[in-house]
Amino acid sequence: MTQNALGVEFTRRLSENPKTAEERAAVLANPGFGDYFTDHTAVIDWKVDAEGNGGWSNARIEPYGPIAMDPAAAVLHYGQEIFEGLKAYRHADGTVWTFRPEANARRFNKSAKRLALPELPPEAFIESLRQLVSVDKDWVPDGDGESLYLRPFMIAMEAFLGVRPAREVSYRVIASPAGNYFGGELKPVSIWLSENYARAGHGGTGEAKCGGNYAASLAAQIEAEENGCKQVLFLDPTNDNAVDELGGMNVFFVFTDGTVVTPALNGNILHGVTRDSVLQLASDRGLTVQERKITIDEWRQAVADGTLAEVFACGTAAVITPIGELKTKDGSLVTPPLPADSVAMSIREQLLGIQTGTVEDLHGWLTQL
Ligand code: COI
Repeated sequence: MTQNALGVEFTRRLSENPKTAEERAAVLANPGFGDYFTDHTAVIDWKVDAEGNGGWSNARIEPYGPIAMDPAAAVLHYGQEIFEGLKAYRHADGTVWTFRPEANARRFNKSAKRLALPELPPEAFIESLRQLVSVDKDWVPDGDGESLYLRPFMIAMEAFLGVRPAREVSYRVIASPAGNYFGGELKPVSIWLSENYARAGHGGTGEAKCGGNYAASLAAQIEAEENGCKQVLFLDPTNDNAVDELGGMNVFFVFTDGTVVTPALNGNILHGVTRDSVLQLASDRGLTVQERKITIDEWRQAVADGTLAEVFACGTAAVITPIGELKTKDGSLVTPPLPADSVAMSIREQLLGIQTGTVEDLHGWLTQL
């Protein structure tokens, strides 16, 4: 049994069959994204008791493995599920840190509310990360741009086919060593404009981090891949074809006058922690930052009149990835070649530097795990 200062108690049952040091080294030599998992998982149960009160219990670390659930578990039928993504970084002195976990904890609870799931105390959220990383710390890579991706999620476990909020829920965290989300070396990616599908509608779940939003992006993602693209850009067809976000990341534009623009948070768009950090770091540099509506017509016009300098995607998984081209069924909107003083690349370097401990953390964004 381990107990931290905040009083969230985790029991530990360690794996009897962890990966060997050689197996782990083989994974860490080329982690990719999302293919490999560490030896343990953190779990906390939630249940409504006979008096109708919900409560968290049985916080634990256990070996990574399949989840036993009833085939009628609500998550399997109605998708009552939310998740988060954040990363653990190894610093040169061997210590392990994470980035703005309180922001993820806050967003997790916002998503929980929207999906009628219970809120998890932020200190339990952060402690679950700390507990998991403390047993699986050897899995935190130290290569350039590498980290241990942490995936907290919450699923409705109750076996019941009526449509109502589940009375049994499981909160879990798994961890996966991560390199570049798009694979290989970082280079500008091509993205596909989805004109047949939208990702979110007003009053929907667009700003919640729930599995359904990502499932809804997949038909468009197939189109993207058929057209040689790595990601999909979604528009809001009910709002002048305003740019919404990509299948799994936010989008930014840099104009030749130095203005940095990203779509405003309008209920459809994920409140990205990286998005928020980029806005802060850009404004720290004295750049004009704007969160506003930007339409596909404005994008087309800026390419045509030469005022568009850069486009980039950002997210925990993607970090900051330049977008070289938006392919559409009527032709491409090509971004100019990355300038030597690229705003995207320079903010990416600063952000990764803060996360990995080589650049001063002026905003106090790091938490030691
Ligand atoms: C993240 O960036 O953490 C996400 O959840 C996006 C996902 C597509 C990997």
